[in-house]
Amino acid sequence: MSTAVCPGSFDPITLGHLDVVRRARRMFDDVVVGVARNAAKNALLPPERRVDLVRAALDADPETADVRVAEVPGLLVDFCRDVGAVAVVKGLRGGADFDAELPMALMNRHLTGGATGVETVFVPGDPGYAHVASSLVKDVARFGGPIDDLVPAGVADAVHAALAR
Ligand code: PNS
Repeated sequence: MSTAVCPGSFDPITLGHLDVVRRARRMFDDVVVGVARNAAKNALLPPERRVDLVRAALDADPETADVRVAEVPGLLVDFCRDVGAVAVVKGLRGGADFDAELPMALMNRHLTGGATGVETVFVPGDPGYAHVASSLVKDVARFGGPIDDLVPAGVADAVHAALAR
């Protein structure tokens, strides 16, 4: 059985994330969504809430119901070792994503000892979600725009509640 990790901030999970997790599940027997901390970003939602929202979204789709989700407490590569993952799967919306992701993929490979370490698999996302990013979703919501058709059920309410705090 081969395990892959789909990591991200998921602040919040979007329909674009779900599309990539679905694609990862078609390639790997076992997929774990890793809700991680991105040191470059200030999260709106606490990690436990992000995990709960990911779980609800995965449960709502038969294709992802057996996908696991957990918080990444430290380095992604340590999490991958702990869950026995051979690969990290990341979605690409375009060239800017690749530019941001390649250094992380190479660093993760470096940290796991080169050729025998965890490899990153880049998956082109559905172009219909190419404009969907958690940061834009929060920005739209912050200024009163509709986000229901960009995120799984229940997520919009969680974002609005967090923004109102
Ligand atoms: O959704 P994001 O913010 O693009 O995902 C980036 C994330 C959270 C996967 C990355 O920042 C990460 O792996 N964080 C965990 C800590 C870590 O391993 N940092 C070194 C990455 S090379």
